[in-house]
Amino acid sequence: MPINFNSQNNVIFIETKNTVYAMKLLHDKFLVHLYYGEKGKFDINLHNSWMDFSPDYNTWRNLVPENLMTEYVGFDSGDWRASSLRVKNKYGQSNVFLDYVGYRIFDGRLPLGDLPSADADENTQTLEISLIDNLTNLSVKLYYTVFPDSDVISRYAVYENNGESALTIEKSMSLTVDLDNCDFDMISFYGNWDNERNFERYHIRHGLQSVYSRRGMSSHTLNPFFALVSPDCDENKGHAYGFNFVYSGNFLSEVEVDHLNHTRVQIGLGDEKFSWLLEKGESFITPEAVMTYTENGYGQMSRNFHKFIRKHILPPEPFNCRPVVINPWEAVWFDINEKMMLEFAENAKKTGMDMLVMDDGWFGERHNDRAGLGDWFANKRKFPDGLKTFVDRVKAHGIKFGIWVEPEMVNPDSDLYRKHPDWCIHCVDRPRLFSRHQLVLDMGNEDVINYLKETFLKTFDGVALDYFKWDCNRPLSQTGSAVLPAERQGEAAHRHILGVYKLQKWFKETYPNCFLENCAGGGGRYDLGMMKFSSMIWTSDNTIPQKRVKIQYGSLMGYPAATMSCHVSNRGGICEDAKQLKFHGDVALAGAIGYEMHLPKASDEMKKSITNQINAYRKYEKLILTGEYYPVINPFLNNYSAYYYMNEDKSEILLSFIQFAPDSGKKVLVPVIYADENAVYIDENGKEYAGKELINGMEFICDDTDNNSDVLYFKKK
Ligand code: GLA
Repeated sequence: MPINFNSQNNVIFIETKNTVYAMKLLHDKFLVHLYYGEKGKFDINLHNSWMDFSPDYNTWRNLVPENLMTEYVGFDSGDWRASSLRVKNKYGQSNVFLDYVGYRIFDGRLPLGDLPSADADENTQTLEISLIDNLTNLSVKLYYTVFPDSDVISRYAVYENNGESALTIEKSMSLTVDLDNCDFDMISFYGNWDNERNFERYHIRHGLQSVYSRRGMSSHTLNPFFALVSPDCDENKGHAYGFNFVYSGNFLSEVEVDHLNHTRVQIGLGDEKFSWLLEKGESFITPEAVMTYTENGYGQMSRNFHKFIRKHILPPEPFNCRPVVINPWEAVWFDINEKMMLEFAENAKKTGMDMLVMDDGWFGERHNDRAGLGDWFANKRKFPDGLKTFVDRVKAHGIKFGIWVEPEMVNPDSDLYRKHPDWCIHCVDRPRLFSRHQLVLDMGNEDVINYLKETFLKTFDGVALDYFKWDCNRPLSQTGSAVLPAERQGEAAHRHILGVYKLQKWFKETYPNCFLENCAGGGGRYDLGMMKFSSMIWTSDNTIPQKRVKIQYGSLMGYPAATMSCHVSNRGGICEDAKQLKFHGDVALAGAIGYEMHLPKASDEMKKSITNQINAYRKYEKLILTGEYYPVINPFLNNYSAYYYMNEDKSEILLSFIQFAPDSGKKVLVPVIYADENAVYIDENGKEYAGKELINGMEFICDDTDNNSDVLYFKKK
C-alpha cells in the first residue's frame, strides 16, 4: 500500500514508485514533517533543537515551533516563517494554532467541489489528516493523494467552521513542505504577452522568494509551475523537486529559507487578493497542489509531471487524432465574411488540413476590438443565411469546423453592457479600467452564467460545431463584485474562477463532441486548472520560430507536448519561402501542429510543401503527443536547442536540432543517452545506427543563419 501508519514510531509514510514522504506524530498532538525525497535515504529520528529566544510548547520544552519542520502551520503561534493558514476570529485576532486530531487512509479520493482536480486510478490512495484550532473550533483537514506510478503526490485542505462565530480566512495555502536543506537553485518561468514561460534559474537565499499572480489568471507573467533543484542538477542528473497548482487564478508560491537552513515551500491562494468569510457550519476547499521528486535531473522531473498530467489531468478527447487546423486570424483579423471563410475551407481541405477555425469577429458588431464582446449572436451582414447554413457549407468541403468565443468578457460598446453595466468586475464609484477596450464579466454572478448559457444555446442551436477556442484577453483589476456584500469582497477573484470552471464544465457536457482549446491572449492561462477542461492550450500568440523554441522549452518543462498547440504562421513571410516554411514546421513539430496564414493566397508549390509537412507530422504525431520528452540542449543558454521524443519501449525516436541564431561553423554533439544501447536503429534514408552511436551523440553543424534545423526519425530495426 502506498500509504502506511507505523504505530511503533508514529510515522506516516507515503510512498510512490521512487520516492517517500514521511511525517511523524509527537505526543499525539503535534504533526511534524520528517522527509521528502528518494527512498531509503533518511532516518526517522527527529532532529530538533531548543533555542532560548523562541517560544516552545510549554510541557515539551524541547519542541520549538520555529525550529521544527512541519506539515501545515497556523499563524503567529511561535513559527514566524510563512504561515499556511491565517484566520481572523470574533476578537479580530488572526492567531491560529493547529493540534492533531486523527487520520484515515482510503482508496481513491474525494471530489473537490467545483474545483478541477486530478483523477484517481486503481493505484490512487489518500491520507486525510484532521487538525483543529481549539479556540475557534475550526477543523482543518489535510489531504495527501498519491499517484504512485508518476511519482506525484498532491495536497489540498478543507476548512470547516464548527464553532459558534463567523471566521474570516485571510491566507490559505494548499501545500506546505519543509525540506531539510537549502542548497537549491530555483527554476521559475517569467514572461509577458507574446513571450511566455522564460526559463530562469537562481540560487535561493535566506528569506522569502516567491512566484505569484494577482491578475485573476495564472498569467503570462509567472507560471505556477516551478522547481527546486540541486546546484549540479541538469537534464539527466541531480535532485529535482517540481511543484504546480491545479488552478487558473491568483496564486502565491513561497520558498523560504529559515535560520536553520530548512526550506519551506508553499503553494496556495495566498493573501494578497484573497479572503473568505466562513460562517458557522460552512466549509471551504482549497485548490489542489502537486509535487514530484527525482534524483535523475529535471528531465525526469518533467517526465514525471508529463505522465501524471496525461493520465490524471487531461480530459478524454472526442476525436481519434488531433485535427490539423487552419486559423485565418493573423491573415484577415476581424475582416471576415462567409465567402472568404469558405475559400479558406476549400483550400484547407485541398492542402490536407482537417478543420477551419473561425476566430474573432463573427458575432455582434465586432469589426475591431472596441465592440461586440458579450453579444454572442452571428452578425447577419457577415453570415446572411445564418451560422448553421454557413457551417453546413464549410462542412460540405469535408472538413471540421471550430469557432472562437471569449465568454468571460464584455466591451462597454455592446448591447450586453448597455443593459447590465454592473455585471462586470468593478469597484464601486471608481472609474473602470479597460484593457483591450474590455471589462471582465463577474463569473461569480449566477445571472451572468445563465445569460451566457442561454445565449450560446440559442446561437449554436443546430450548428455542427467540432471545436471551441475559448479565449480570455484581459486580466482582472479592481476586483469587486456587485453581488457580494462588503465583508465578502475578498472572495470575488476566487468566485470568478469557480464560475469560469462551472461554465467550462457546462460547455463540455453540452457539446460533448467538441474539442475545447483554452487560450488567454496566447498562453496566459497555461495551467493545470485549464488543462482539466482542455487537453490543448494556445501556447502563445508568438509564432515566430526563433522565439517559439524558447517558449516551447519553458512550457515543456512543466507540461506535456500534447498540451501545446504549435502553429506554422504567416510571420516571416513563409507563404513565399520554402526554407522558412521548413524551419517553422520543424519547430512546430514539438507539439500539435496547426496553421495560421492566408492559405488561399499561397502558391501551389507552397501548398504542396504544406501537404508534405502535414503528412510527415501524421507519421510522428503519436510519438510526439504520447511519447516521452527528453530535453538535451537548453535554448536559453545557447543559440540552438535539441530534444527528442521516444516511446516507452525505445523503438522510435524523433530527434530535433534547432539553431535559431547565427553560430557559424560550430559543431554540436547531441547525445541520445536514453536510446537502447543494444539496438540497431534505422533512419528514414535507410542508414543504420548502433544504439551506442546514438548514445554517444549525433553531430550537427551550425551555420550563419537563424533558421537551421533538422528533425531525424529513427526506428529500431
Ligand atoms: C487573442 C488570441 C488570438 C486571437 C485574438 C482574437 O489574442 O490569443 O489567437 O484569437 O485574441 O481577438
